[in-house]
Amino acid sequence: MIPVTKTFLPPQEEYQELLRGVWNTQLLTNRGALLLQLESELKSYLGADHFVVMNNGTVPIQIAIHLLADGGDVITTPFSYVATTTAILWQKCNPVFVDVEPDYLTIDPDLIEAAITPATRAILATHVFGNACDVERIGQIARKHGIYVIYDAAHCFGVKYRGQSIFNYGDISTCSFHATKIFHTAEGGAAFCRDQEMYDRIYFSHNFGHLTPTTFKAVGINGKISELQAAMGLAVLKYMDTILDERKKLVGTYHDLLRHASVKFIQLREGLEWNYSYYPLLFADESALLSVMSSLETMGIYPRRYFYPSLNQLPYLTASTHTPVSESAASRILCLPLFVGLKEDDQMLIASTINSLCPQ
Ligand SMILES: Cc1ncc(COP(=O)(O)O)c(C=O)c1O
Repeated sequence: MIPVTKTFLPPQEEYQELLRGVWNTQLLTNRGALLLQLESELKSYLGADHFVVMNNGTVPIQIAIHLLADGGDVITTPFSYVATTTAILWQKCNPVFVDVEPDYLTIDPDLIEAAITPATRAILATHVFGNACDVERIGQIARKHGIYVIYDAAHCFGVKYRGQSIFNYGDISTCSFHATKIFHTAEGGAAFCRDQEMYDRIYFSHNFGHLTPTTFKAVGINGKISELQAAMGLAVLKYMDTILDERKKLVGTYHDLLRHASVKFIQLREGLEWNYSYYPLLFADESALLSVMSSLETMGIYPRRYFYPSLNQLPYLTASTHTPVSESAASRILCLPLFVGLKEDDQMLIASTINSLCPQ
């Protein structure tokens, strides 16, 4: 069976070695030594100064919305994972969908301004597949209208844009360290921001608002990560160069093998240093995608329809919006298997199946 992704696992002895200290101290959580070490190593690795590591990639989005948009309208992308939209709804905010750019599949800045009303509090955009949104234009629009920018950067571990960490853009950026992501802590994530004041607000939000054990600074929830997960992060982080090298090679092989007249890889924005996090392929139409999927499935190969459906079409939304670019992309896009250990023979089989079923 070849799944769309497989979790990278570090050598078990290295993970166990890191856990030795936990068995000595019996401190399993509440920002222990391993988490502090992980945050310090991530600071150097990512070149990001202000961030809090948390228990997944969804809670940081909820905290960002709670802090910057509570109760208001949030302009957002329909082309993302469902968590982007549900975090808005969960915080009792109103998602306002704005279509995406056809080549990049990130939110279209040309359409944002027309969607802004006095009820708009923030923009929540996704750097989908690690591809940068048009951060300059989004930043300009937000400043002009006095609204906040939150980036769902769940796919962006290690991505740089115009020479710096992509997490440095926006008022708050979030990342997921889920087991399916290129860097992971099994479950985990983080919220990044630009200054100490915002860091403090995020920090108190993720730790019940505690200032001291008996005093409270703000309303907070539990977004903390355990030492067991921090240990996994430390063990995986050592292998990031290997992970990125291998994934880059796999992406290059797909690029070489696929006949790009009949299928199209997304366009990466100029100035992006990408992390090879996904291999999204756009087919001519949904029926081509479905025939490729069913053919691959008979061989035990399981690509995934990331992201489908277009989020403006979720069944529980009350307002109906039409976002034709996102709806079309969602119906035609498939992510091919991509993980450390994927064999070239399997990539050849996948590519030849696609090439034979998709006429030029
Ligand atoms: C774009 C996007 N946002 C948010 C999330 C949620 O992250 P987590 O699963 O770590 O909560 C994901 C997870 O895959 C995602 O792809």
